[in-house]
Amino acid sequence: MSVRIAPSILAADFSRLGEEARGVEAGGADWLHVDVMDGAFVPNITLGPVVVEALRRATKLPLDVHLMIERPERYVEDFVRAGAATVGVHVETCPHLHRTLHQIREAGARASVVLNPSTPAGAIECVLGDVDQVLVMTVNPGFGGQKFIESMLPKIALIRRWIDERGLAVCLEVDGGIAPGTIGRAARAGADVFVAGTAVFGAPDHAAAIAALRGEAEAARDV
Ligand code: DX5
Ligand code: ZN
Repeated sequence: MSVRIAPSILAADFSRLGEEARGVEAGGADWLHVDVMDGAFVPNITLGPVVVEALRRATKLPLDVHLMIERPERYVEDFVRAGAATVGVHVETCPHLHRTLHQIREAGARASVVLNPSTPAGAIECVLGDVDQVLVMTVNPGFGGQKFIESMLPKIALIRRWIDERGLAVCLEVDGGIAPGTIGRAARAGADVFVAGTAVFGAPDHAAAIAALRGEAEAARDV
């Protein structure tokens, strides 16, 4: 699968959200990553379906909605109605994970399953055939601008092996601390979708930042 770059809106200027979304669209982004936090599952509060709906009107980029909220099954339909192309739920928040993943697909979005750094790969092994995407967190969720956790690389590699061995069309996404220097390592381990907040919105030239990230990821995958 080809490399996809998904800038995280969390690092954008929230007073100019529409402009920021259109800016990365013009700059070559593939998806827009939208971080939803509830102040309970993670120690930060961000945005809800109203803002997703506003982003939907601002850009044609597919919206990759990452739910860092307790009991996410309460809001799946709301986020899909607001325009989410993908809805990601954390393993740690879903006792009935299989059911919630199918709820996302039935609502009309791609289903993504997300793992905190301390959660082993085995937690998603039994639902690999029920998802469109696995997201391996490479920081503890809650804030942008944190340091990439290197010890996640073997977990990425193991999930990549499962996807390939089973011949599944599942995207393998990484999120947290993705920047020049780390993106290549994540790509070499087997990731194909890369969320980047600070590395894109913190750079003066968003298009150049996206191109540099893509270049490093593609070069690493060609090795
Ligand atoms: C962290 C979020 C990330 C965050 C990434 O909780 O899920 O999407 O925005 O930000 P950077 O790229 O700055 O680590
Ligand atoms: Zn995220």
